[in-house]
Amino acid sequence: MEILGIDIGGSGIKGALVDTNSGKLTTKRHRIVTPKPATPEAVATVISELVMHFNWKGLVGCGFPTPLHHGKCLSGGNLHDTWKNVHVDSLFKEKTGNTFFIVNDADAAGLAEINFGAGKNVNGTVIMVTLGTGIGSGIFLDGKLLPNTEFGHIYHQKGIIYEKYTADSVRKKEQLDYSEWGNRLNEYFAHLKLILSPDLIIIGGGASKKMNKFKSQLTCTVPIVAAETQNEAGIIGAALAAKFHIK
Ligand code: BGC
Repeated sequence: MEILGIDIGGSGIKGALVDTNSGKLTTKRHRIVTPKPATPEAVATVISELVMHFNWKGLVGCGFPTPLHHGKCLSGGNLHDTWKNVHVDSLFKEKTGNTFFIVNDADAAGLAEINFGAGKNVNGTVIMVTLGTGIGSGIFLDGKLLPNTEFGHIYHQKGIIYEKYTADSVRKKEQLDYSEWGNRLNEYFAHLKLILSPDLIIIGGGASKKMNKFKSQLTCTVPIVAAETQNEAGIIGAALAAKFHIK
């Protein structure tokens, strides 16, 4: 079954048709720069350009980088404040005529990995952690997603959320070397281990591509691996969310 998968990120909005049985893209990825400011109207216009690019009339799955509940955005997060309380699925349907399933971007990446990547056939608790501009999370028990978790928003003892302490963007902004950043990641993974007892942690987002630079710093006893579907994870997982009607 082919579905259009779209991944909305802070710098780019990417889409491709996905064969949801194999997890493979059946077209080239098409990327449009995320408009600044990334208001609902501006982003909806880009979504409609993507749908037209693929001349697509069917279902669309769309990964979205904010807290969500049943297709409604709960906070603009790193996108734009005006997204708060917008029903993203209805907005995109109005703009394009297509039926949309909106899924949190980290849940989407996790769905790709659980079905076709590092989490395939792994029983027990698997956590996807995306390290990029923010920190996103997706948690799975025996392959089933518990949607809309926000484990990047857990508080660190300094009184700030972990996203503001441990995201890859913080490493760049504070010019942390990999050993300093590794120490912060160790605090974070120790915290996740304590509260969730995961069997596997999969790292996604920008950091998954450079895991060889910090893997040796990690001390957590839980196995930690890089996402295998890499920068296609968001698109593949978004299409899967539409296939499984997740929202
Ligand atoms: C948002 C999450 C999102 C993550 C990665 C965080 O700021 O709260 O919903 O998954 O960024 O984009």
